[in-house]
Amino acid sequence: CNVVVLISGSGSNLQALIDSLGEDNPARICAVISNRADAYGLTRAQNAGIATAVLDHKAFEGREAFDAALIEAIDAHQPDLVVLAGFMRILTPGFVQHYAGRLFNIHPSLLPKYKGMHTHQRALEAGDAEHGCSVHFVTEELDGGPLVVQAVVPVQAGDTAETLASRVQIGEHHIYPLAVRWFAEGRLRLTSRGVELDGTPL
Ligand code: GRF
Repeated sequence: CNVVVLISGSGSNLQALIDSLGEDNPARICAVISNRADAYGLTRAQNAGIATAVLDHKAFEGREAFDAALIEAIDAHQPDLVVLAGFMRILTPGFVQHYAGRLFNIHPSLLPKYKGMHTHQRALEAGDAEHGCSVHFVTEELDGGPLVVQAVVPVQAGDTAETLASRVQIGEHHIYPLAVRWFAEGRLRLTSRGVELDGTPL
């Protein structure tokens, strides 16, 4: 199963994916693409011997042109799955449709709660006892696609957005490799009824 990973930053989720690859995992990361040349995740990929590419969104006139170039760069690797791992660009409907059923995102909240930005601060301000992260199939609705798996973490007394974020990230690093593995093993499907794991609705 060929996987292309899109990043913009540190790439700790990319690292968790890299670390999960091995002989018994049918997923193979064939390329990492970043919209930022200074993303540390590019170094992580290079250290693992994975091909990298940089596509700077600022060099394109508008989202349509950027996404068209991005599709071209991704499809050169003929991926079965495209994984957004801290990719900080909103994608056009055309892009999302092109990868329907084979595009994952990870979001740092227990969706459908807290779509968008500043999720940890919002969970703290709401006084939530629990927070977490979600892997979902990407659809045209921002952070709104069908859920694959979530990790729940407790909110602790004295938590700041930073301490909570680092607890949530530990969860991210568990569930993203799990979801990618399920997909690579052919166990996960997005159907008109929703997401199925081994033929059972999630
Ligand atoms: C993660 O918190 C993810 O949920 C969000 O962006 C962050 C990426 O972190 N979408 P990293 O680059 O994988 O370290």
